[in-house]
Amino acid sequence: MQKHIGPMLGRLSALALGAVIVASCTSEKITYKSTPSYTTPPAAAGNFVGYADTVKKQTVCGNCHVDKQTDWAATKHANAWADLQASGHAGASCVPCHTVDSRGNAAPDTLVGFLATNDARYKDVQCENCHGAGLDHVTTPTLSNRPLASIAVDTGLANGCGECHTGTHDPFVDEWVQTKGAGHAHLEAHALGNASCTYCHVGQDALAKWGINTNYVEASQDATNPMGITCAVCHDPHGGPNTAQLRYAINVRDTSQNLCMRCHQRNGKPAAPASNYAPMSPEGPVLLGFAGYFPAGYTGPDTIVATHGSTANANLCVTCHMPTMTVNDASGKFVSSYTGHTWAAAPCLNAQGVPTNGDCDISQRSFAACAGSGCHGSPDVARSAWTAVTGRLALLDSALSSQLAQIPSTEFKKTTMNSAIGGKYNLMLAEKPGSEVHNPFLMETLLTTSIKQLQADYGVNPKYNVSLSLQLKDPAATQK
Ligand code: HEC
Ligand code: HEC
Ligand code: HEC
Ligand code: HEC
Ligand code: HEC
Ligand code: HEC
Ligand code: HEC
Ligand code: HEC
Repeated sequence: MQKHIGPMLGRLSALALGAVIVASCTSEKITYKSTPSYTTPPAAAGNFVGYADTVKKQTVCGNCHVDKQTDWAATKHANAWADLQASGHAGASCVPCHTVDSRGNAAPDTLVGFLATNDARYKDVQCENCHGAGLDHVTTPTLSNRPLASIAVDTGLANGCGECHTGTHDPFVDEWVQTKGAGHAHLEAHALGNASCTYCHVGQDALAKWGINTNYVEASQDATNPMGITCAVCHDPHGGPNTAQLRYAINVRDTSQNLCMRCHQRNGKPAAPASNYAPMSPEGPVLLGFAGYFPAGYTGPDTIVATHGSTANANLCVTCHMPTMTVNDASGKFVSSYTGHTWAAAPCLNAQGVPTNGDCDISQRSFAACAGSGCHGSPDVARSAWTAVTGRLALLDSALSSQLAQIPSTEFKKTTMNSAIGGKYNLMLAEKPGSEVHNPFLMETLLTTSIKQLQADYGVNPKYNVSLSLQLKDPAATQK
């Protein structure tokens, strides 16, 4: 039965007026444009409303939340049903994740939405998949009955994005949970409760820092229920201009605009006093070639970019840290997909050949991403390149360490910058995991120039005989 617009109009228009006034002090983004026209949902649907117009993919919610409707309509979520059909493999088991039902929201996993009704209005992944059933709110739209979405990654797979983005074909959550020990699912105790740390370490605070002050279940729980870097921190649930619904681009060579570098750039340059000079999450500045301490006597370029940080590697961090692959067994039978959401670079493989977040010998790591990106001729070429730079930098590390050990400790406590503090910083920077791959040429330059500067400033020589002329070679290196 089509609801009559007439009688509803007066009531909803009055509400509309109220809403605009309220909205002006909460959010300017809610556009209360027209009254929603929708058919009463079937009783079995469990209060899910779905589409107002199935052909136009006009959601009932989107009648009022116009900007959300526009963004969402351009996402793959809005095409989930058609893509399922086009695959030629559609079957009953596929339907729950490609339609509106209890997947993705707090509704108990009983038959609701499409699963209970087979009604076309519930095709695709719509607003209510994440926000939950909206009939009450749609009938009387107020703040008190607003259906708030959650940004949680429920590792019990009972709620949130993970209820669909899971399993051997789409193991996004399954991979993300592996980073609980160190990584995006981990909550670093030292960083909690300190506003100068949480905007990179706590999901809610990262969103707030990025201007996402919208409402969701955990929005004001950053102190009591801090969340890690969950799906909705990196991905805009409603879509937007970037690929894969990302909130920031991954191919921008700018630490303030690159998704990864927005966080991975805390301390790439030393600053006296001593207590403050350890490098911390310096990966962005290292990759882009401007991290570290360039001593006074250094006359070369102050930005040293290797191929890895150059335009030759368009997707920068993501190329190496988020390779994707399909894993088949020896007989060619599908085992599982890998989506790159452990963020392990050159990942170790488990017994089935599936990448994991663990540690292993370099001989057991997968260098498929290095070869697949077109940068290296084969995985083994990349493997030997890593071994070579590691060896060269280890020599320079030892040489610089031996000099630093000869310098009086008072030099490291000065409040103004000196080459001892800078040298120690460069050593720590070079020893950060991954620095040798992120930018071997920058590391070699920083270490050799620090060694020379300490010789000049303090008269200390390395205890090891090591060549101070640059040895590592890269055609794209030393651009300005
Ligand atoms: C008839 C218009 C209308 C419809 C349809 C509608 N909403 Fe709303 N929505 C509102 C109004 C009005 C508010 C309150 C805005 C305010 O006062 O800030 C609101 C608030 C919200 C909020 C909270 C925003 C905040 O600032 O806290 C969410 C989330 C939301 N709606 C989601 C939905 C979803 C999901 C649907 C579909 C199930 C939907 N809305 C359908 C009008 C509507
Ligand atoms: C009800 C199941 C379901 C839920 C809940 C869900 N998704 Fe999806 N998602 C899908 C399906 C199905 C597709 C693929 C649709 C297609 O390609 O036709 C998809 C696609 C995507 C894509 C692919 C975009 C691209 O351009 O490749 C992203 C990103 C995404 N989802 C993120 C999320 C995030 C973040 C959440 C939680 C805030 C979420 N999804 C919740 C089912 C879901
Ligand atoms: C557990 C939830 C779930 C089930 C069950 C499910 N899918 Fe999906 N499907 C997804 C998600 C999530 C994506 C998006 C993945 C991505 O973007 O990488 C997706 C994407 C797709 C796509 C988009 C194109 C592509 O491959 O990227 C097709 C086609 C598809 N699924 C077909 C199927 C078929 C056929 C079945 C049943 C045999 C099925 N799905 C069952 C969650 C599911
Ligand atoms: C894939 C999950 C997902 C889908 C689909 C989705 N949302 Fe959301 N929505 C969220 C999450 C998570 C948030 C909170 C974080 C954010 O705003 O980015 C949110 C926030 C909102 C807000 C609050 C904005 C504010 O200003 O406070 C509104 C309103 C809203 N969504 C409406 C919609 C409507 C309407 C649709 C469908 C056209 C929709 N959403 C589709 C997950 C989703
Ligand atoms: C730290 C940021 C980050 C987090 C957290 C994150 N992702 Fe992603 N995700 C990305 C990036 C970057 C890409 C694009 C990779 C590429 O282009 O190769 C991506 C790609 C995707 C895609 C599209 C894959 C395709 O087939 O094109 C889906 C779907 C997705 N993520 C879902 C999720 C889900 C679900 C979660 C939570 C478990 C999640 N992501 C957490 C950064 C993130
Ligand atoms: C919102 C901030 C944020 C964003 C965005 C972000 N990260 Fe992270 N990342 C972190 C934090 C914080 C940690 C460390 C968490 C911990 O161990 O407590 C981390 C950890 C990691 C680690 C693992 C480090 C280890 O010790 O194992 C890798 C690799 C990584 N991030 C890569 C990426 C890549 C690639 C991107 C972009 C696709 C990205 N990150 C985006 C904040 C972020
Ligand atoms: C600009 C973003 C940012 C800020 C601010 C930030 N961190 Fe981090 N932090 C990261 C990222 C990204 C990582 C993971 C990458 C890495 O370890 O290099 C990380 C890793 C860590 C680690 C584990 C690895 C290590 O270096 O030992 C600890 C501990 C840590 N941070 C503590 C803190 C504390 C305490 C604060 C506040 C005083 C803080 N962080 C502020 C981004 C940040
Ligand atoms: C050319 C490939 C490549 C690029 C590009 C790259 N990384 Fe790495 N990264 C690596 C390798 C290899 C390691 C060492 C991994 C290991 O030791 O397990 C690493 C290590 C790391 C680590 C430390 C992980 C740990 O186990 O402690 C973090 C954090 C990190 N990278 C973040 C980033 C970020 C953020 C970017 C972009 C600014 C980036 N990386 C760009 C290859 C790369």
